[in-house]
Amino acid sequence: MAGFSIPTIAGAVILALFIRTAAAAPDDDAALWAEIQNATDPAPYENYLARFPNGANAPMARARVDALMTRQAGPGGGEGGEAGGAPACPLEGDAVAGEREAKECRLCHAFEIGRPSRSTGPNLSRVFGARIASVDDFTLYSAAMLEVSRQGLVWDGDTLDSYLKSPGEFLAKRTGTPEPLHNMFYRLTDVTRRGQVIAYIQSLARCR
Ligand code: HEC
Repeated sequence: MAGFSIPTIAGAVILALFIRTAAAAPDDDAALWAEIQNATDPAPYENYLARFPNGANAPMARARVDALMTRQAGPGGGEGGEAGGAPACPLEGDAVAGEREAKECRLCHAFEIGRPSRSTGPNLSRVFGARIASVDDFTLYSAAMLEVSRQGLVWDGDTLDSYLKSPGEFLAKRTGTPEPLHNMFYRLTDVTRRGQVIAYIQSLARCR
């Protein structure tokens, strides 16, 4: 008999912790999102979805759960990669290294010309030289990205460099909002790798 009480106690403790966590979390959609938006494991997004299944950020939360589950499943999981008959596009110089360095970006982005955007991020094959947040088939841009897009900003070497270094700071500076909500919770901190990935994105935009 006593054997049954152990799982029951454990269950009660977990339930109590869950209730406490739920109670301590902000009860406002935007506030909770602000708190969790940089999480790198799926649990906080699942928690968000449990509380706000129809919340403003629910589509993005679902996309992140998918992307992060794929990542946890290890390389090779999910789509991405060059398989699937992408048009041939010769890469030169830094762009060659950049294609390799963009491996993590593929968790969320497609780079193949003509392939649809994924729900987790816009297709990046045509962004260089284009207005920011203007990939037609991507519908989950943050308000901050759209605001900067309305300012007419275009992706070039400099704008991409500062965005990839820190999307949050980039958007803060350009919107004048200290911590704008945004949807890319990924930074490329290494300046060399940033240069290579940018060379890759630039080369793709030149490919027909
Ligand atoms: C976890 C998913 C995720 C990862 C990883 C990620 N991104 Fe993103 N990225 C996004 C999302 C979502 C957006 C849209 C952001 C917004 O609207 O706030 C975005 C936007 C962008 C944009 C702007 C595109 C446009 O249409 O204006 C660029 C450029 C970009 N990402 C490049 C990269 C690169 C390069 C990497 C890898 C070094 C990367 N991203 C990694 C999710 C991701």
